[in-house]
Amino acid sequence: MKMDVLLGLQWGDEGKGKIVDVLAPQYEVVARFQGGPNAGHTLEFDGIKHVLHQIPSGIFRSQILNIIGNGVVLDPIVLKKEIDGLGKFSIDYQKNLVVSKKATIIIPTHKLLDAALETSKGDKKIGSTLKGIGPTYQDKIGRAALRVGDILSSDFREKYDTLVEKHKTTLSFYNHPIDALPEMEAQFFAAIEFFKTLNLIDSEYVVNDALASNKKILAEGAQGSLLDIDFGSYPFVTSSTTMTAGACTGLGVAPSKIGEVFGIFKAYCTRVGSGPFPTELFDHTGEAMRKEGNEFGSTTGRPRRCGWLDLPALRYSIMINGVTQLFMMKADVLNIFEEINVCTYYELPTGERIDRLSFEISELDVQPVYKVFKGWHCSLGDVRSYDEFPSELKEYVSYLENDLQVPIKLVSVGPDRIQTILR
Ligand code: GDP
Ligand code: IMO
Ligand code: MG
Repeated sequence: MKMDVLLGLQWGDEGKGKIVDVLAPQYEVVARFQGGPNAGHTLEFDGIKHVLHQIPSGIFRSQILNIIGNGVVLDPIVLKKEIDGLGKFSIDYQKNLVVSKKATIIIPTHKLLDAALETSKGDKKIGSTLKGIGPTYQDKIGRAALRVGDILSSDFREKYDTLVEKHKTTLSFYNHPIDALPEMEAQFFAAIEFFKTLNLIDSEYVVNDALASNKKILAEGAQGSLLDIDFGSYPFVTSSTTMTAGACTGLGVAPSKIGEVFGIFKAYCTRVGSGPFPTELFDHTGEAMRKEGNEFGSTTGRPRRCGWLDLPALRYSIMINGVTQLFMMKADVLNIFEEINVCTYYELPTGERIDRLSFEISELDVQPVYKVFKGWHCSLGDVRSYDEFPSELKEYVSYLENDLQVPIKLVSVGPDRIQTILR
């Protein structure tokens, strides 16, 4: 059996949580492979709306084993809160949730460092979620981090103190206040005691044993390909490998064992945080998109920047991920527009046409060139089959499929589980 991967093709918040929850009944295992509490994955069903940050989105399906893989950076305080918040759903964590001992732990000073580094960047700040992601991955790569398995060892406190001392030197260099640290540490160590009661495992064996015994696994990406540490709009990126390859390193699965790659994109674009966004709309159209799509961050509540669909960027994401099926989300948000634009390429002031995301692109004054589509201008909320789609939406979908050369197998027309049309 091969492992399928589902990931975002834009700047995150494409609707990954919703679709993992929709597809979960077809799988036995759902696994997160990178990122951490910077993610906010929203699920809606039976009148319930729930946002997950670190727990995989298969958690509401009792037959599914949910794995937090080695590639994740995990905040024990957030994990405890998440589990407490799920109390009313009678989920059996011992049975349905396991955590890799090789996952990296976010400690309180990582969050302070995140804030200190952002402040020091002034108007060049990344717009980090301030969850400690960058500093934790920095320590991981720098071979200094604490891992989940460490919490079980008798010298965990010693290891912790050594790392904190190092962090304090940097915090003092940035003149960053550490008054909040004692309270944060009290919460952290209480959460660590709770953490010890969870099922901590060598998840690479569990994943590979599952594949060997023909079990179906879905790897759930966080963030999006345009926030990838290598291929995103650096430095305005997150600190992990958000693409398909990250599912191999973040779970211990060989590239030859990757099956379908489901690429999720919104029928338009959003970005939260700083960085280039060629099709961004600064006018009432962008405002209307934000309002209609309820485009406010699931983790930070920040308003998301909105703009038209960007095909050069989408083609790039499809290429680096080896996407085999596309899922188009939030088609219903475009209901309100008379005309819908899609950027097919960019143009420089010299008139030169560009359709590749080169190293230099963020330095260039690129203007999106749009193809204009007629809007469908009707509600899609109650549509339950592709046949019921207005002809204008069908035209939009088939144009994108033709351009992207990958089939659009799913169109989402609302946040609820049932508002999902399979083709
Ligand atoms: P994720 O991070 O990729 O899981 O996405 P988020 O949960 O951060 O953001 C997606 C938002 O869009 C959430 O509020 C979802 O409930 C909502 N959503 C998902 N699919 C649709 C859709 O097809 N239509 C509408 N209107 N909302 C959707
Ligand atoms: P999900 O999984 C959207 C963005 C931040 C910032 C940059 C770096 O819900 O799609 P970080 O906290 O990682 O240091 O922030 O990345 N970012 C996200 N944007 N969705 C996310 O996750 C994001 N996770 C990080 O806004 O611009
Ligand atoms: Mg999100």
